[in-house]
Amino acid sequence: MHSHFGVFLPIALLGAGASIVAGISSSSTCGALCLENVHKGSSWEMDQHASRDFSFYEPPSNFSSKLPPGSLLTVEPVTDLSEYSIPSGLSMSRIIYTTNDLNGTTLPASAYILWPYAPLETPEQQKQGYPMVAWAHGTSGVLRGCAPSNYRNLQYHFMAPFLLALQGMAVVAPDYAGLGIRTLPNGQEIGHPWLTGPAQANDLSNAIIAARKAFPSLLTANGPFVAMGHSQGGGAAWSFAEKQVKEPISGYKGAVAIAPPTRTIDHLKDAFGNVTQTWAQLIIAGQPKLIAAVTAVFPSYNYTGLTSVSYDRWFNVLEPLDGCLPTDSLAFTNVTTDELAVANWYDAPEVQEYARLSESGRKKFKGPLLVISGEADIVVPHDTVEPAVDDTCSMLTHEHWDESLEFVSYSAMDHFPSIQASQIKWLAWIKDRLSGVPASKSGCVKSLVNGFRTDDTFQSAEPNFLEGWASTDESWKYSL
Ligand SMILES: *[C@@H]1O[C@H](CO)[C@@H](O)[C@H](O)[C@H]1NC(C)=O
Ligand SMILES: *[C@@H]1O[C@H](CO)[C@@H](O)[C@H](O)[C@H]1NC(C)=O
Ligand SMILES: *[C@@H]1O[C@H](CO)[C@@H](O)[C@H](O)[C@H]1NC(C)=O
Ligand SMILES: *[C@@H]1O[C@H](CO)[C@@H](O)[C@H](O)[C@H]1NC(C)=O
Ligand SMILES: *[C@@H]1O[C@H](CO)[C@@H](O)[C@H](O)[C@H]1NC(C)=O
Repeated sequence: MHSHFGVFLPIALLGAGASIVAGISSSSTCGALCLENVHKGSSWEMDQHASRDFSFYEPPSNFSSKLPPGSLLTVEPVTDLSEYSIPSGLSMSRIIYTTNDLNGTTLPASAYILWPYAPLETPEQQKQGYPMVAWAHGTSGVLRGCAPSNYRNLQYHFMAPFLLALQGMAVVAPDYAGLGIRTLPNGQEIGHPWLTGPAQANDLSNAIIAARKAFPSLLTANGPFVAMGHSQGGGAAWSFAEKQVKEPISGYKGAVAIAPPTRTIDHLKDAFGNVTQTWAQLIIAGQPKLIAAVTAVFPSYNYTGLTSVSYDRWFNVLEPLDGCLPTDSLAFTNVTTDELAVANWYDAPEVQEYARLSESGRKKFKGPLLVISGEADIVVPHDTVEPAVDDTCSMLTHEHWDESLEFVSYSAMDHFPSIQASQIKWLAWIKDRLSGVPASKSGCVKSLVNGFRTDDTFQSAEPNFLEGWASTDESWKYSL
């Protein structure tokens, strides 16, 4: 989930290259300055892509909607890392595989696998191959260009995938349906059902199944793995734990959900009663992406919630540029709240149904489950996560589930900082699960970590706070 307020995205205005994409002049509402800004943002975004050539993400010719989910379509055993900024020692592969949407429809999707230099040593490691973390990323955007497997820093860089692989775990990371591979072989568009935890959980499960088929000696059929995600991916990880109840995958050792959205449409409704709050402005700003998500799940809904202004910005500015979060924030500059979405659009029956289908939490799950939340999170507020934990825990108690859920809150931490603040917890937790250390006994445990000097630490609402990228003719930039 993300803002489109320029104030949170100063970085989108930096480093604008000379290459200007043509073809968005048909917008009737984005004026000269608006166009200049989106072009700058889009050009900077393209500089952050490992490749501008999306041929890897063309739907493979042997895709068929009759294939079961988790089928392997393409394997790139070794990804050329010269255009990525990936730590030494690590290597990467990419796969294209089949996933299934909420209707069970089979779709092609992509994923990367980040390989460690050497595997984490666990008691069973010799027999079981590489311990794995199935990583579910947060919002990158909702269009083709927003596949983290084509981001030079894999979007979450040292916050998650680099760190996990450097610590000896193979990281299997889906891009999610609709990102990267955007069409079926017949040209039909694949929408991205943003913030639909159960759909992204399908993408995560199927990526694990397909990655094991691609590398059976490294990722063995029963090898230990933990599912983990943040933000949109936190919802995916929680939904993944729920999916394990009916569709277990061998080797599952638990899930970590950081800052998971749970009931997004309710959160949006609350926002309209709290419009002066930053958290409210952020989710209000996210409405076009939510409207696109409802359309991805129910094509007949067909963007009904967009106004003529937001329709113009979506289809004549953002889509032609294939823009992701940075460009998204710029494409909607100066669109007022009234112009952004039709009033009460979320009362439509399709949206109500989407709200029900997209929910993570408040359902039976297979644990152990670790849920983490920052008390100052303005994107997925702590007071949306805690009630979902409490309700789930009350179900656990009353229905005598033999499962464990641990909820840890981090004082004063915002959306991305909560990942860093909690690293000491989740990294050890994951290694314990992968090593076969028993998890805490069934039941719920809640705790708060009070951070030291939280007034004096740097807080960022954005992911890209530490990694720059430079081309070889600007390699002097690396020496800073
Ligand atoms: C947004 O509106 C403000 C106030 O009217 C104006 O100064 C600014 O140039 C506008 N920005 C864009 C990108 O159009
Ligand atoms: C699709 O083709 C690739 C490459 O030829 C092959 O490795 C893969 O197994 C095929 N998948 C299916 C489901 O036919
Ligand atoms: C404001 O948001 C809170 C949740 O933070 C919610 O409980 C409340 O109902 C909202 N106010 C209105 C008037 O919607
Ligand atoms: C999924 O099923 C629903 C209900 O039958 C239908 O309205 C919707 O269009 C389907 N979505 C897709 C992507 O096929
Ligand atoms: C959605 O609406 C557009 C124009 O308003 C129309 O051209 C298109 O055919 C519609 N698509 C569906 C799936 O109803």
